[in-house]
Amino acid sequence: MYVCVCKQITDKQIIDALENGAQNVIELQEQLGVATDCGSCIDCINELVCEYSEHSIPIENIKIINSANSKSNQRFW
Ligand code: FES
Repeated sequence: MYVCVCKQITDKQIIDALENGAQNVIELQEQLGVATDCGSCIDCINELVCEYSEHSIPIENIKIINSANSKSNQRFW
């Protein structure tokens, strides 16, 4: 099932990344590009991180960077 529609990333890809060493949403952003566009997937991704990683970061500390407007349209959660 697609979790991040913008980047076409599935839950399986996210779980695989977590099982292979990704430890939080920021690392998933870097590795897969999830939650770097509209950001609507971040709650679902954070749930997967909390389920599969002991190193999750509070969602308030995660910065969403819109790759299309990287400097002028940053949102902070
Ligand atoms: S659905 Fe993941 S960034 Fe838009």
